[in-house]
Amino acid sequence: MNTQHYSRHLATLMERYERALAATGYDQVVISAGSLVMVAEDDRAYPYTPRAYAQQWLPYDVLPDTFIVFKPGDKPRLLWPARQDFWHISPTEPSGDWTGMWRLQPAESLDDWLPSLTGRTAWVGPEHPALSQYANAVELDPATLRSALAYDRAFKTEFEVECLAEANRRAVRGHRAARDAFFAGQSEAGVYRDYLAASGQLESTEPYSGIIALNASAATLHYERRSFDVPAQHRTLLIDAGAKVNGYASDITRTHTTDTGHFAALLAGVDALQQDINAAIKPGVKMTDLHRKTQAGVAQLLLDHKICNLSVEEQLSKKVPQAFYPHGLGHLLGLHVHDVAGHQQTPEGEVRNDPENPFLRLTRTLEEGMVITIEPGLYFIPMLLNKLIAAEPQHGLDLELIEQLKPYGGIRIEDNVLVTATGHRNLTREAFGA
Ligand code: GLY
Ligand code: MN
Ligand code: MN
Repeated sequence: MNTQHYSRHLATLMERYERALAATGYDQVVISAGSLVMVAEDDRAYPYTPRAYAQQWLPYDVLPDTFIVFKPGDKPRLLWPARQDFWHISPTEPSGDWTGMWRLQPAESLDDWLPSLTGRTAWVGPEHPALSQYANAVELDPATLRSALAYDRAFKTEFEVECLAEANRRAVRGHRAARDAFFAGQSEAGVYRDYLAASGQLESTEPYSGIIALNASAATLHYERRSFDVPAQHRTLLIDAGAKVNGYASDITRTHTTDTGHFAALLAGVDALQQDINAAIKPGVKMTDLHRKTQAGVAQLLLDHKICNLSVEEQLSKKVPQAFYPHGLGHLLGLHVHDVAGHQQTPEGEVRNDPENPFLRLTRTLEEGMVITIEPGLYFIPMLLNKLIAAEPQHGLDLELIEQLKPYGGIRIEDNVLVTATGHRNLTREAFGA
């Protein structure tokens, strides 16, 4: 880790919190990472993900029952869970150069530190079971404060960009192994196993459940079955899978095919469209405009590849591209794969989505420091095609050709892109190129 980058990241967070606390009238904030959630009537826990507001402050994978206390003017306090437990691994004191920027304090329970807090205190993050004893000491998750903090999370510091870039490099190692496994004739489960091994992950540590779809299954947008069956023919692999570094996620999709004809040409077309959209990324651009440009691009592909003989304009007026590309172009990326505040237009919390495109998760105008995904797709989804054909007799579709393409499922290409002062930096293609 680059300690200077982290130091500047911490300074930025302190500034942001100081501003947000002043605007909302709090003297200090407690940020809770959350606790393990146990399976009912059992002694095992669900996989744990620390709450992002806590993870954002710390350069390691934050443990359950970690708390941060920040009061403007003071060093931030890290209350790490000093549990003595012979059944489980006992946490040890966090170490590294960066700890000099903190006041570290071991804490076995809230009683060790919460009663000494004075002033108006906001509590951000999950409640703690023992908090009921201190009901009047803190104000739980005030919406005004959280709006301000969520809005700022869209602007990544250089430390955060480095985490996201490393998460891309890590995932790309997995994507390369997955591609090889596909061409070697593996099952979905086999491809997935090779992905996890090469990217150094367990299923429980992925930022989201990896999508590994062979053939027609590529038409299910969030296909998570990972079958052990080896298909008779390997036509398509659609793999949408990422990795995490200090909590920051990559979210990458690639589509591979053994085809050398029509589907392969269509795949090359989607890849070219995706790069065309990437090239337009810079501050001031509206994601809603890029999404519409992508819909028009999909219509052009349908026309060029003789899947639909209507003009681009006719297709758009009949919503033909939406049957082949039914999801949004992309979203903010960070500590959450679908990061917070994609529709939030102001720190105060004004929300605006795109009613024409309800699945578009990002309606904010692009600004320097945002990291977004760009993920156009083109799929043969029987349900949506049947609906279009029933609703629009003059659909212009070549149904015979579509039947031939259905066994290939679909195509998605997804990169993670940083908006820079003058344009963009593609963290994913950079990692594939290295
Ligand atoms: N992997 C989920 C997404 O691409 O949005
Ligand atoms: Mn994805
Ligand atoms: Mn995505």
